[in-house]
Amino acid sequence: MSGHNKVLVTACSNLALVKYWGKAESMTNQPATGSLSIGLDGLSTTTELSLAAGSEDEISLNTIQSGKSIDRVRTYLDLCRRLYGFEQHFRAITHNDFPTGSGLASSASGMAALALAINQLMALELSAKQLSQLARRGSGSAARSVFGGFVEVVMVADAFARQFASAEHWPLSVVIAITDLAEKAVGSGEAMLRSATTSPYYQGWLDSHPDDLTLLKQAISNRDFELLAEVSESNCLKMHATIITSRPPILYWTPATLALIHKIRQLRAAGCPVFFTIDAGPQVQAVCLKGSEQRLEQELQQVPGVIRTLRSELGGSPHIQVCPP
Ligand code: PMV
Repeated sequence: MSGHNKVLVTACSNLALVKYWGKAESMTNQPATGSLSIGLDGLSTTTELSLAAGSEDEISLNTIQSGKSIDRVRTYLDLCRRLYGFEQHFRAITHNDFPTGSGLASSASGMAALALAINQLMALELSAKQLSQLARRGSGSAARSVFGGFVEVVMVADAFARQFASAEHWPLSVVIAITDLAEKAVGSGEAMLRSATTSPYYQGWLDSHPDDLTLLKQAISNRDFELLAEVSESNCLKMHATIITSRPPILYWTPATLALIHKIRQLRAAGCPVFFTIDAGPQVQAVCLKGSEQRLEQELQQVPGVIRTLRSELGGSPHIQVCPP
């Protein structure tokens, strides 16, 4: 039974430095690989959740009320009803303060916000681990958006995320260069499946993944930026190698994506502490040591094909606000 009339939850997007790509079990989003991300304070989803008056869910996302992303929320609410045995329907009003569905992990912040809101509204009293598992059922990367800072996924039978280090441990900045605002043609779920079933490099991706995670954790623990850059870039390019070599091939990059990779490598060679990573989309995320972000943003804005840039600090702990009955 609900203890509140309305809850307001803000959860942040996250950026994996060693990425989750591939599912061991597609129904539950049980990942085939571990992952480790940083929480992005500047990219957030806010969801207002209350009980619906009627017997249907009322869902809106950035003022849109139908389409693929709305169906996905509806399916997720059905799953929650099944898992926890309640029958109520919901009114869910969601806003992203960054572009949706274009490779900026809007499903991570969106599904994490929804899981946290359902837990609060329906007084489920789930632990942090259970919340992360519930968010994962909505989107694999959402398991990590339940926490802020550096967050790792623990690879057990029902995988969950936990904080590896706080944001204060190593304040990093992220500049995101947007090169295409269109919704991507192939979503990450479908692309993962195609990589896993058709790319000759997928097995190599799986085999080399545990070493990447070990090195990444070492880099974070020792605040070793050079190692962080080396492992993150290599892991990102390996993931894209499996994507590009799937059949039929998927190429998320635009010419500007590649130009940005070159630019970031040039800047690093010239002494700027920065590296790139790219999710399943055409945008490039440049991660740098704090203090370099302003100059970096100016440099990336000048790369031909860059539409706009966003900036974020490391953080991303969710906020939950309860509106009393
Ligand atoms: O959570 P999903 O199903 O959108 O998959 C996320 C996949 C990547 O963003 C490419 C990698 C990751 O670990 O976030």
